[in-house]
Amino acid sequence: MIRIGIVGLGYWGPNLVRCFSELENCKVTAVCDQSHDQLLRITNRFPGVHPVENFETLLDCDMVDAVVIATPTSTHYKLARKALEHDLHVFVEKPLARTSDECRKLVDLANERNRVLFVGHVFLHSAPVLKLRELVQSGELGSINYISSRRLNLGPVRKDVSALFDLAPHDISMMLFLLGQTPESVTCSGLAHLNPGVHDVCNLTMQFAGNKIGMVHVSWLDPRKERVLTVVGDKKMAVYDDLEQEKIKIYDKGIDTAPPSTDFAEFQISYRYGGSYSPWVQEKEPLKAECSDFIRCIDDGDVPHTDGENGFQVTQVLEAAHKSLMQGGYPVRLSAPLSAPFIDAHVAEVLFEK
Ligand SMILES: NC(=O)c1ccc[n+]([C@@H]2O[C@H](COP(=O)([O-])OP(=O)(O)OC[C@H]3O[C@@H](n4cnc5c(N)ncnc54)[C@H](O)[C@@H]3O)[C@@H](O)[C@H]2O)c1
Repeated sequence: MIRIGIVGLGYWGPNLVRCFSELENCKVTAVCDQSHDQLLRITNRFPGVHPVENFETLLDCDMVDAVVIATPTSTHYKLARKALEHDLHVFVEKPLARTSDECRKLVDLANERNRVLFVGHVFLHSAPVLKLRELVQSGELGSINYISSRRLNLGPVRKDVSALFDLAPHDISMMLFLLGQTPESVTCSGLAHLNPGVHDVCNLTMQFAGNKIGMVHVSWLDPRKERVLTVVGDKKMAVYDDLEQEKIKIYDKGIDTAPPSTDFAEFQISYRYGGSYSPWVQEKEPLKAECSDFIRCIDDGDVPHTDGENGFQVTQVLEAAHKSLMQGGYPVRLSAPLSAPFIDAHVAEVLFEK
């Protein structure tokens, strides 16, 4: 039985406490928050869980084998490093840290200590995203031209990181997962309206090898909540709307081109209008699937597909995007983009079987 300690019981942490508490092969033994009120709220709901106000006390209490970190992003590196130094397995909410350098240090430390380092890229455990990946990998959508996404809402506004670092990790992680590549370069523009220096609306474009792009629009200032990701292939297109009941819709539409018949003729373009349908996708709470995968990896010694390396890749994109943002939207190249699939085929199999 793996004993879990959860730190950070604000907006998101209680969801993690609930999900881990509902799993059979682990037990939430301790919770930690520097706010007494937050602790009280959780211990009233989950009696029997040991409350602590100080993270060091949690690490030294000898009641946990793994810690789950759901504190603000600016604290992730420091807390995760301390937990790994105590030889604990670590789950860190997205993004893994604020810089790729910090992520690399955490990955190296986890390897050195032979501990699982897991990042909360929750959408990579969601059935619709696994379905999308299946559609991309099977070739049903054809060659992918671009992926675009909109993640908009009125807040919740953060103080320690921009909307880019708060919201875009979800979209970046999905796009890297779907394409099996990291981008070659990134451009980003945005503005800070509420809090000087903390961008509340951003547009990120990732350029991938093979003439593919990924476009992400994030905002804390939009009147309507949107969670939409569109994958445009040259055969079919798929739209994933997380707020709909039928989350994925496939459109059998496209544009075909025929080469010109003479040197001076124009390309022949024909529009293809087919039907649309929603494939069946098994309903499963992504957060619970994510928590379960963390425990499975500790039990089996498996490397999670949302491991520290995956956290590094996403943070590397965020870091390049932030540089571009600071330089007025100039393209920033990534140091070593991956153009080959970086996720083993067996990972997809394990996840699809679940
Ligand atoms: N996966 C998702 O969909 C999702 C959704 C929301 C938030 N998150 C992530 O969860 C994390 C927390 O976000 P939130 O919205 O819950 O933030 P929050 O500000 O509501 O809560 C953070 C809590 O951490 C506590 N805390 C801060 N530093 C601490 C420390 N050193 N020791 C103990 N407690 C400490 C605070 O008292 C607070 O209760 C962030 O990394 C965020 O990106 C993920």
